[in-house]
Amino acid sequence: MLKLRELKESDRALMENFWNSLTADTFRWWHHYGSVDDIFHEKSHKLIGLQNGKIVVYGFLLPDDNFPSTPSLGIVASEEERRKGLGTKMLKALEKVARKKGYKNIFLTAYIENKGAVRFYNKMGYEIRSVVKRRAGLAYSMKKKLK
Ligand SMILES: CC(C)(COP(=O)(O)OP(=O)(O)OC[C@H]1O[C@@H](n2cnc3c(N)ncnc32)[C@H](O)[C@@H]1OP(=O)(O)O)[C@@H](O)C(=O)NCCC(=O)NCCS
Repeated sequence: MLKLRELKESDRALMENFWNSLTADTFRWWHHYGSVDDIFHEKSHKLIGLQNGKIVVYGFLLPDDNFPSTPSLGIVASEEERRKGLGTKMLKALEKVARKKGYKNIFLTAYIENKGAVRFYNKMGYEIRSVVKRRAGLAYSMKKKLK
């Protein structure tokens, strides 16, 4: 059973375990943070998904002062637990938070080569708007209008 809730300061050790379980394959696309400390320092809304006492999925919603109605988001699921719907559950929970906070849209970027993620977001209603240059290559800028 997946339990989704907000990340708390006391979850640091759990988060370290999750972070340390991820490999270079994931960090190739997931380099928004340099360390777990960066996650805790970021002024974002953070959710975790727990299964058997372990974090198996993490997601954030990050406000952008330049676009007050459009925060960005990111999700990372445990490598062993992918394609089991964890990403979908996290995305839906983040969208619910966004609606509650009165946001109108959600924005994100996904590397073009990160085909699984592009498919995932596409399936969830995110539309490709443009191509942007990011640290590890070209990425799609994707957006969804919240209903
Ligand atoms: C993107 C990510 C969060 C998806 O999480 P997930 O828990 O595996 O996703 P779900 O199981 O909810 O997938 C839902 C649907 O998205 C699509 N999808 C997800 N991963 C896919 C993949 N690797 N290849 C093709 N389609 C994929 C499928 O249509 C899937 O449905 P299906 O399994 O019934 O075919 C996960 O792959 C991940 O953590 N990737 C590394 C970090 C990252 O790239 N994050 C995105 C950039 S912020």
